[in-house]
Order: sequence, then structure tokens, then C-alpha cells
Amino acid sequence: SQGALDGRGAEIGVIGGSGFYAFLDDVTEVTVNTPYGEPSDALFVGEIAGRRVAFLPRHGRTHRLPPHRINYRANLWALRSLGVRQVLGPCAVGGLTAEYGPGTLLVPDQLVDRTKGRQQSFYDGETRPDGQQSNVVHVSFADPYCPSGREVVLAAARDHGWDAVDGGTMCVIEGPRFSTRAESRWHAAQGWSVVGMTGHPEAILARELELCYTSVNLVTDLDAGAEVGEGVSHAEVLEVFAENIGRLRDVLFDVVGRLPKDRDCLCPTALLGQDPGIALP
Ligand code: ADE
Repeated sequence: SQGALDGRGAEIGVIGGSGFYAFLDDVTEVTVNTPYGEPSDALFVGEIAGRRVAFLPRHGRTHRLPPHRINYRANLWALRSLGVRQVLGPCAVGGLTAEYGPGTLLVPDQLVDRTKGRQQSFYDGETRPDGQQSNVVHVSFADPYCPSGREVVLAAARDHGWDAVDGGTMCVIEGPRFSTRAESRWHAAQGWSVVGMTGHPEAILARELELCYTSVNLVTDLDAGAEVGEGVSHAEVLEVFAENIGRLRDVLFDVVGRLPKDRDCLCPTALLGQDPGIALP
């Protein structure tokens, strides 16, 4: 299919978060429309270590979209329609305990959804503008992230001298406000590790499209219940992200080269035995 896409095809997708607006230097800008509307921005397609990569700035290149207004369905659909089958999702998060201070890299293995009313399925039984109607589908989400992708990120980070935390639970809040101290203490008391605003529904939508998805969390601050001071500020988030963006980019470049060419995880068969009704791109 990549030939048919005439140089626009890619196998790996990277969705960059706050402070992460560009990835590759030599890129082709590809505009993609989807049955779910417009993605956050054009997709920037290029090559790293012989692998075709599509980069998408999650909030748009000028950061015009807050977490609750991102069209997650369009983003994942657009990536898949370029041929992408493995997705890396770096994002800024707050640490819920002092153990996960700014600069910590954490590769979560679990997620808790505390968002409200976001579109979190392609299979809602509604008829799309193009007339196609989905069936009802229930996918397994017990383990929300691709185990192969997680291993590769952890190994690459280690090789760059960044001792990434292997596993943990990302709590995803609706935002765009940060948590109150009481909410934050409550999240920590549940044993959750970090808090962000965009990890859901990105991961489940990837799973629904049978994509591999790996969440990569850069801690930019201690959340309100764990810090002493005024609470989190957006400036602080961007500052710590800026300090770490170079090495995060280096790690992700390495990850791209090391992702398995043949997927032997369960992600490609997430819909096995169920008929989504609509054709996946
Ligand atoms: N993103 C970065 N820091 C955050 C925090 N403390 N809470 C929610 N999302 C965040």
C-alpha cells in the first residue's frame, strides 16, 4: 500500500505532545482527511533508520487544541490510512508521588480513564457522513499498551543513559485544568503513578484499529498533591519538556529503528472474531 501512497506512506507513527511539535527534519507534509473529520494537523512523513515515519503534533503545530478538543479518532484514522501500524505516543505528565520527579521517563503499563464525554470508539453504531455504519465491537483493553513497543522504548532509553521506569499507571484527567490537591492526593492514594490529559482515548482508539500503541511519559512536574508550592503551571510543563526534548527525540529515533518489522504481539488481531462493519483504511 505504501507504493500506492506515492511516497506518502509510513509504517510507524509518532504523536508528539506539549512541547513536541517537530520530529524529523526532512519531511513531506501530507494533508489527510478522514470520515471522522480533520486530524490535529498535517502529517509530516520522513525516514529514520530506513523506516518510514509519520509525525503528528497532537495539539497542532501551534498548540491550538486543548486536550479535550483533540480529534483523537481522526488522528489515529489518518495515521492508519498512511499505512502506520505502530504508534509511539510521547506525552507530558505530572508525577503523583515524589518518586517520579521532573525529568523522569516512565513507560506505563496501565491506564485509568477519568475523562468525561470524549469520543472513545470508532464502533458506536452511528452512520458516518460517507454512509458507512459501524457494528458494535468490544475489544479487550486489559493491557492497554503494546508489550513489544514498551520493551523497545525501555531498552533504547537505558542505552541513552536514561533509566526509564518500567510500568506504572497513567491517570488521564479531562483537563484542561490541572487537578486540585484533593484530587491529586486521591489519585496518588489509588497507587497511580502519573497524571496526564491526552493518554485517553488515544490508546483505545489505536487498539480498535489494531495498531500497536506505546505510551511514553515524560514527567514535567510534581502534581498538586505531591509538591509544596503553588501547584502546577503550564509554563513549568513546557520548560521541563524543553529541557528534555533533545534526549527524548534521540531515544525515539532509536526506538523507530528497533521496532519489530513483523508484529508478533496481539495488537494486530484485536478485532479477531468481530466484524467492525466499516472497512479499516
Ligand atoms: N501534564 C503535565 N503535567 C500535568 C499534570 N500535573 N496534570 C495533568 N496533566 C499534566
